[in-house]
Amino acid sequence: MNDIILVVDDDSANLMLAQKILGKEYRIAAANSGMAAFRYLEKNKPDLILLDINMPGMNGFEAMEKLKESEAYSSIPVIFLTADKSVETETKCFQVGAVDFVGKPFVPDILISRVRRTLELERYRNHLEDMVKEKTSRIKEMQEHIIVGMANIIESRDNSTGKHVKNTQMYVRMIADELKNRGLYTDTLNDEYIHNLCNAAPLHDVGKIKVPDSILKKPGRLTPEEYDSMKMHTEYSQDIIEDILSDVEEEEYVKMAKDVALFHHERWDGTGYPRGLKGEDIPLGARIMALADVFDALFEERCYKPAIRPMEKIMSILEDGKGTQFDPVITEVFLSMEGKLREMLM
Ligand SMILES: [Fe+2]
Ligand SMILES: [Fe+2]
Repeated sequence: MNDIILVVDDDSANLMLAQKILGKEYRIAAANSGMAAFRYLEKNKPDLILLDINMPGMNGFEAMEKLKESEAYSSIPVIFLTADKSVETETKCFQVGAVDFVGKPFVPDILISRVRRTLELERYRNHLEDMVKEKTSRIKEMQEHIIVGMANIIESRDNSTGKHVKNTQMYVRMIADELKNRGLYTDTLNDEYIHNLCNAAPLHDVGKIKVPDSILKKPGRLTPEEYDSMKMHTEYSQDIIEDILSDVEEEEYVKMAKDVALFHHERWDGTGYPRGLKGEDIPLGARIMALADVFDALFEERCYKPAIRPMEKIMSILEDGKGTQFDPVITEVFLSMEGKLREMLM
């Protein structure tokens, strides 16, 4: 399909001339004032705008300003048209963001070459932008895969199914979405926060790589010393994340991953580890992770315990932890999702 060019000029002779010169190659839309141009733009998106500077009412520079203010229009390239060929005018054209400048009266060959070149550059730029976007999203996807893969390998040491990583990530997403849908913690829980949290969740236990097998796989109760060494996995996780993600540009994501790893064993009443943080001092992401983590630990079989059934028993354990171990608001929301969980898991 031919590109559309919007020509804005108060002189109808110029509009006709532009139509004659460009009409064979392009579809031309004409507007005889700035206002008429914006009326046209409400329903159409041209590929290029040729904009006269001297017009009654809204002049070309004013129209340009309005175009640049709008997200929808600011990317459309603009070539100014003017009979005033002074250096000042030409300078101003570029200052306000025009891609080019064509003198009047039009010289057909000049007008058509400038229009062609501008549209060609525009196509090239758009193509590059699309390519960069696509590559970036592929790199991100790969990064996420590697992170989950690595977390799975580590997890499989004490949980041969490696399900804990996938499951907890799923519960974290469910809880965060549900909180947001109910308008809870909305100052923090925006889409970006939830996205970061879900990608951070798989890393919460990576520090277990540094906990000895004799402790990690011990079927019975841990001695106090062994438990202390197990608790260190939160600090180790944070250090490992800091190491492996030091070059990742998304600062918010890295911070989230470190917070979730370090604080997912904190308790609402301040008796958790490693810092003994209390209540809302514990980052929200870590409070959500805590519930997802414990639910999965109870639901699945572990080397030191069988899977707990029926589901009501798990829910009643979580309920007991409401306001002591867990954030009471998040616990309430999680308990209310029992039906959904049952459908998914049973
Ligand atoms: Fe943990
Ligand atoms: Fe965990």
